[in-house]
Amino acid sequence: MTDAVVPDISRVMDALAPEQTQMLDHWADQLQELLNTAVSQGGPAARRVKNWLNGVWLGHPLHPALTDAAIGAWSTGAVLDLVGASREADAAMTVGVLAAVPTALAGAADWADTSEEQRRIGLIHALLNSAALVLMLGSLFARRGNQRGLGIGLSTLGLSLTSISAWLGGELVYRFGTAVSRIAFEPRVDEFVAVTPVTALVEGKLTQVEATVDGQKVPVVLLKRGNLISAISATCPHWGGPLADGKVVECADGATAVECPWHASQFTLDDGKVCQGPAATPVTSYEVRLRAGQVEVRRRG
Ligand code: FES
Repeated sequence: MTDAVVPDISRVMDALAPEQTQMLDHWADQLQELLNTAVSQGGPAARRVKNWLNGVWLGHPLHPALTDAAIGAWSTGAVLDLVGASREADAAMTVGVLAAVPTALAGAADWADTSEEQRRIGLIHALLNSAALVLMLGSLFARRGNQRGLGIGLSTLGLSLTSISAWLGGELVYRFGTAVSRIAFEPRVDEFVAVTPVTALVEGKLTQVEATVDGQKVPVVLLKRGNLISAISATCPHWGGPLADGKVVECADGATAVECPWHASQFTLDDGKVCQGPAATPVTSYEVRLRAGQVEVRRRG
């Protein structure tokens, strides 16, 4: 057995002194409160912007997609610097700076709903990226001021910081599962499965049941409205919030939805689509039928 080349981020975080951890948590508290207050006081327009930054429109978190644009442009600029293509290198560095702004905003929108270790690592990730962006801006000014050597030095330092920060971003996703759909590994309910007697359902009340597939239990939430029974996954894909403990709401387009009790993502009952983030991926939607007094569900589509 050999040690990993790159250290485990959890061990790195454990090595922090308690005062350093407390300081990070204090900054994180303040910043999260600021962001969440801005969204709640900004009304529906601010919520729409946050939805957009979370990637609801994309069906996928937006931040990781945008990071490729910034890092890709800066890496391209570094290669062009190496081969002496100055004008093209400067253009690529400028594209990277322009792409970094929405990338940072999308990252902040995702980070606003994190907690504990993910929140601390996310904050360090953001601080490193902010420092890198300042260095890149300094590089652009130096390049324009005919201080090419200084410009290249600053952008090299900026790209180095961004690379370390990108590793932290990877740790957040691959080690901690940040922004990974919490229902990604749920077994598929491809055949109708009985989940509860219809008499157990109460009009207008969310009810959690389980569909058993190959011995594995898949949580499903049901809602009875008159003759209509809707069924979607009972697990919020964002961080795994229990949707059966949420509330029934109306989306902006009038569709009936379930709101997650943890960070208020909303999923339509008809098809499981997200009508409010921070969740970016939809929940599984189920067809429902009644057989011999039993409610049966099967994955839709
Ligand atoms: S767990 Fe975050 S919105 Fe559901």
